[in-house]
Amino acid sequence: MSLFKPRAPVVPAIPRHIAVVMDGNGRWANRRLMPRFFGHKHGVDALVRTVQACADRGVEYLTVFAFSSENWKRPEEEVSGLMSLVLVAVSNYLRKLASEGVRIRIVGDRSKVSDKVRAAWDEAEAVTRHNTRITLSVAFNYGGRWDIVQACRRAIEAGVPAEALTEARLGEFMAMAYAPDPDLFIRTGGEVRISNFLLWQTAYAELHFTDCLWPDFDEAELDRAIAAYAQRDRRFGGVKPSPAAVAAANDA
Ligand code: FPP
Repeated sequence: MSLFKPRAPVVPAIPRHIAVVMDGNGRWANRRLMPRFFGHKHGVDALVRTVQACADRGVEYLTVFAFSSENWKRPEEEVSGLMSLVLVAVSNYLRKLASEGVRIRIVGDRSKVSDKVRAAWDEAEAVTRHNTRITLSVAFNYGGRWDIVQACRRAIEAGVPAEALTEARLGEFMAMAYAPDPDLFIRTGGEVRISNFLLWQTAYAELHFTDCLWPDFDEAELDRAIAAYAQRDRRFGGVKPSPAAVAAANDA
């Protein structure tokens, strides 16, 4: 009997679900003496590259923070620029993503966006709804606290009694109930915070922060994040089995 018998890795090498805060577009543009919108425009290109790279590596879900509930506080010009970018992105990239097997889902409060933006998101979801290679969820007018509150409201409206409201039951009302929780959370741009992204869903996500500004995010950066993730020891609040317990299990 050997105590050093290899055991199955605790973490599969490839995360099933990656969530990304795409930060740093404004600084990327400033460094080039360009308006912030220029950075967001290149941010869309980085996003399309990342969807492709994730799909190639077998990631099943990619969720990105494109516009937060708090982003309305930005200058009017930048907000309207981001809204018009939705229309440009859908018109430039929807066919390509659809033909590559990408399913698009939008998460967030659609009630406050314009009819045009809502129609673009509806089209993106409708055109890609049968695709299965990778699901790209775009969080738009989204906030983690908003999500928890809307889930509670919908649970109450559905008549769920207080004593029946478990974590699993409430989870059914969360905006991303269709996806497993993210395994890996990446934030670019050098800030080390979650910024009201998927608060409920990232309870046990592995966090990875990089100084890379989002428009520069590429396959090498993605691979570094995945390699760091693969080194983590995920215990989900439990304990790592002792070598003796592993050996006994292997011998059984
Ligand atoms: C944060 O960088 C980025 C955003 C608030 C917007 C992210 C949006 C995109 C990448 C475009 C995706 C758009 C669609 C339509 C899917 P920042 O502006 O806070 O940068 P800074 O920290 O350098 O100022």
